[in-house]
Amino acid sequence: RNDLKIAPSLLSANFANLEKDLDQINRSEADWLHLDVMDGVFVPNISFGFPVLKAVAAISKKPLDMHLMIVNPDKFISQIRDLGTMMMNVHYEACPHLHRVIQQIKEAGMKAAVTLNPATPVAMLSDIIQDLDMVLLMSVNPGFGGQEFIPHTLNKIRELRELRARSGSNALIEIDGGVNLQTAPLLSEAGADVLVAGSAVFKAPDMIEVIHQLKNA
Ligand code: DX5
Ligand code: ZN
Repeated sequence: RNDLKIAPSLLSANFANLEKDLDQINRSEADWLHLDVMDGVFVPNISFGFPVLKAVAAISKKPLDMHLMIVNPDKFISQIRDLGTMMMNVHYEACPHLHRVIQQIKEAGMKAAVTLNPATPVAMLSDIIQDLDMVLLMSVNPGFGGQEFIPHTLNKIRELRELRARSGSNALIEIDGGVNLQTAPLLSEAGADVLVAGSAVFKAPDMIEVIHQLKNA
């Protein structure tokens, strides 16, 4: 297949020299840049906030795929939009009023995605999937890079494809966590549309080459 998208996750980059790493991503075949925002409340870790996001957005030539691992993500919709964000991902588990949040993201002019933790069933999206541009399935528990892929994710991809077909939705299926040269072919075959890869890209000696290989998984 030639439509698989790759979204490197900046979480595993060298934060003392982001410009160098971003330059590699800009020159690569990466489709999007995946940015992981953590608040230490929704997930047991804190990553980066708006000062860093602004600096990164100014340099990135790739569309921004913003993954918000925070409570009350709706508070930040206009600030996220002002960064030039293409896709805003909010967690199902963080949004009691999910339908409203999705409408607000779209009204702000961004594409809207819902993220599911590993233990959240795909079926929870049956009444919202028709409004979504993308569903992000976590294939690790969110909060850290470099964790091991949870194989059950492959079953969830197949279920999500069925739900998507039944509901007439066009939502892309994105996978985040433990994506590498071993797991990428399995995910591609199961029907993933977008693969996020953090440590597999940024810890590699040749990022451009790894992205090329993932793209052709
Ligand atoms: C984890 C983040 C991921 C992370 C993935 O909570 O959502 O985007 O960077 O890292 P890897 O690819 O190393 O599993
Ligand atoms: Zn992520």
